[in-house]
Amino acid sequence: MKVLLLSSAYNSMCQRIHRELGLLGFDLSIELSSDPMVMREHRDRFSPDIIVAPFLKHRIPNDIWLHTICLVVHPGVYGDGGPSSLDWAILNKEKVWGVTLLQANQNLDGGKVWCSRNFTMRSSNKSNIYRREVMAIASKMVKESVLFFQKNHTAKPYTPQSIDTSKVGWKPYMKQSIRKIDWQLDSADTIVTKINCADSSPGVLGEIGGIDCYFYGAFSDKKTRQTVQPGKILGHRAEAIQVACKDGTIWIKQLKLANNYDNDKERAFKLPAIRALANSKIELNLPPITSKRKREIHAKVSGEIGYLYFDCYNGALNTEQCINFLAEYRQLTQDSTIKVIVLMGGEEFWCNGIHLNCIENSPEPNKESWRNINAINLIAEAVITTTDKITVAALRNNAGAGGAILALGCDYVIARDGIVLNPHYQLMGLPGSEFSTYTLPKRVGDIRAKKLLNDCLPLLASEALDIELVDRVFSENWNGYHRQLNSFCRELANREDFSNLLTQKTQARHEDEVVKPILSYASAELKKMKQIFDDTNSSYHLLRYRFVHKIAERQTPSRLVSRDEKIYYHEQLARISS
Ligand code: COA
Repeated sequence: MKVLLLSSAYNSMCQRIHRELGLLGFDLSIELSSDPMVMREHRDRFSPDIIVAPFLKHRIPNDIWLHTICLVVHPGVYGDGGPSSLDWAILNKEKVWGVTLLQANQNLDGGKVWCSRNFTMRSSNKSNIYRREVMAIASKMVKESVLFFQKNHTAKPYTPQSIDTSKVGWKPYMKQSIRKIDWQLDSADTIVTKINCADSSPGVLGEIGGIDCYFYGAFSDKKTRQTVQPGKILGHRAEAIQVACKDGTIWIKQLKLANNYDNDKERAFKLPAIRALANSKIELNLPPITSKRKREIHAKVSGEIGYLYFDCYNGALNTEQCINFLAEYRQLTQDSTIKVIVLMGGEEFWCNGIHLNCIENSPEPNKESWRNINAINLIAEAVITTTDKITVAALRNNAGAGGAILALGCDYVIARDGIVLNPHYQLMGLPGSEFSTYTLPKRVGDIRAKKLLNDCLPLLASEALDIELVDRVFSENWNGYHRQLNSFCRELANREDFSNLLTQKTQARHEDEVVKPILSYASAELKKMKQIFDDTNSSYHLLRYRFVHKIAERQTPSRLVSRDEKIYYHEQLARISS
């Protein structure tokens, strides 16, 4: 059966549904354009049996949904509608929210419901809830519904549970006027909620230190009382800023300048707060702050297990974060009471490799790329060469590019079910590093390693397990995953043959080193990377610019479309060039 996916981006939701349906054996093609003509032509050429819209910001043309059943994922409870559903749910502090699968019709979010399920809301930001709860439910509902349609060729019957429909209904796009922070009236918690419901997009527009910018990555710190005016920046720590509120303070990790304060270069993209403020060229003289709060990169030791968290915004590790990461990792390796080190990643991503925004922001992106890749490689090298402890990569969340490769240096890679891995670099025009030429073939073999790097397609945790890219897949349920992970690590640490494990590990590392020294992998990889960084005409610089500035591709990439569609692309290209 043929399924066409219409999506506004090949985002993590679309990636997951694409792979889940692919695993069920459906013939798939994806269209990312919002142009009705392009959608129509793709539908006509592919002639799908059903259309699924995992993440759609635009309307589906009438003739498409009239002709073919279109199922739209809506991140809202039964009866809810509108483009800012999760934003409103977070702002209104809903205790329970949901995901609904609707059949497209003339009314946006008003079609027949095929499925709707609820979940308990957590206190977190929008993209975290979207990636964790919404994606898990949506992918299950899509699979069930498409399978139902395959069997019955009719709509999946749905009986709504008794719900309070007075609380839901169509809600408008949430404008900045609703999101606006009133520093005099809003409590620290209210401000964090306002920022959370706009994080990661569109952000809350406000003014801080006389500079107009969007705020992201906020949390409250009510222990610190202050007497200065609410809205004033108190200082900075780890590139985040602490801002006074009427009943405490908040920390803001990331800012995006609203205006181009720097006439030389366009810098309106997300950056660690201190870097964004520096771009405004307004002198602020902010003092550094010491605080007892946990840093984004910190270790937690529990008995013989050392957990290392690196909760960096968007999973990107800039040079300074890599240096901090390595220092924390080294501390754990030097603690003789620790037998198992677990790399935990962050709450939203495990890791997405070097920090492309910080590189773009640098006056010399080629040099900053070089510093960043060397800094992340030092982490990879430290992990690979740790022979007196067992290392575990706890892939609790998605990982991409160098971040996905970094995990492979660990002895065990334990993924949470449902996460998506993107172990490839070519979309950024890079051959890759992080010892990928050592760890990737070691796990999956040369042929598969090349395929993963060239195909540039995401992998589900279950697919990664099948090819032994990861060693175990534990429950998708967040708490369930942590319970399984902790007992796995405790069992490892308590193994009677633990010292044998270490001896075997040391032996295997030694044998590998004799075959080819670990540093020669890195030097060969880095040589290629340096050439690309130093070549101002290399596609990397352009691709990074487009990625950071969120410039969408003009056409759905050919790796995402059906075989026939690929042939059509080739014919088009031939026609244009002849
Ligand atoms: N540096 C800076 N920001 C990054 C990043 C990186 N390496 N990787 C991801 N991000 C940001 C994205 O810009 C996006 O920001 P936004 O939500 O504020 O708009 C956010 O993280 C989520 O990424 P997104 O691309 O929307 O998620 P996804 O699940 O659709 O795709 C990846 C995940 C990893 C495939 C994709 O983000 C990617 O290709 N990242 C670049 C990885 C890379 O090439 N790193 C350099 C080589 S090591």
